[in-house]
Amino acid sequence: MQIIAHRGASGLAPENTLKAIRLALELGAGAIELDVQQADGELWVFHDRRLERCTDGHGVLTRQSRAYLESLDAGQGERIPTLWQVMALIRGRCELHIELKGDHTADAVATLTRRAEAELGFTPAQWIVSSFHHPELARFALLRPEIRIGALTANLPLQLARFAERLGAWSLNCDVDFVNAELVADAHRRGLKVLVYTVDEVADRDTLEAMGVDGIFTNRPDRFS
Ligand code: G3P
Ligand code: MG
Repeated sequence: MQIIAHRGASGLAPENTLKAIRLALELGAGAIELDVQQADGELWVFHDRRLERCTDGHGVLTRQSRAYLESLDAGQGERIPTLWQVMALIRGRCELHIELKGDHTADAVATLTRRAEAELGFTPAQWIVSSFHHPELARFALLRPEIRIGALTANLPLQLARFAERLGAWSLNCDVDFVNAELVADAHRRGLKVLVYTVDEVADRDTLEAMGVDGIFTNRPDRFS
């Protein structure tokens, strides 16, 4: 079962920061997940729509200027990193799951992944691009059809894994609260992997493994090494 550090090692360091990414690498993570949003012409690694929970700033991230976002404390003195800064830190040392958090992210991620392959030693096989925003994900798949995509769902769809197959996804990424054996079996029948978020307890991992789940996103990669 693959273990993916969720927002970096976010149970041990401020989520989606360079510190959390560095820690995940030190823990030997084979894969790291992060969230990206676009603001002021830049891709920022940040989960929430608003800045309050994870920084000392205020407002909706996508409406802010680069200078304002660069000035914020994202926890323990960390800054909100750009996707490029994270790529430059990782330099092809593990797989990177890039979650497109909203509009206007697909084109920029297509451009940056190409640049990181040319300049930072990544290969196309090291990216998995995922999203709850299925139109944005479909757009990314048109731009970079050679890159694996993960179709996210936070619920149990009526037609199970059909939506992910229609998107041409490599994996169906489901919330731990909704995944069940029927969904896993249906996804596997359609040739899809099943990745589940967010799993921090070893007992839950064991249950999911018995269900046939292929990987988990965890805030505590140290518990699964
Ligand atoms: O990609 C898995 C997981 O990160 C999706 O949910 O809200 O944690 O980004 P969220
Ligand atoms: Mg995410």
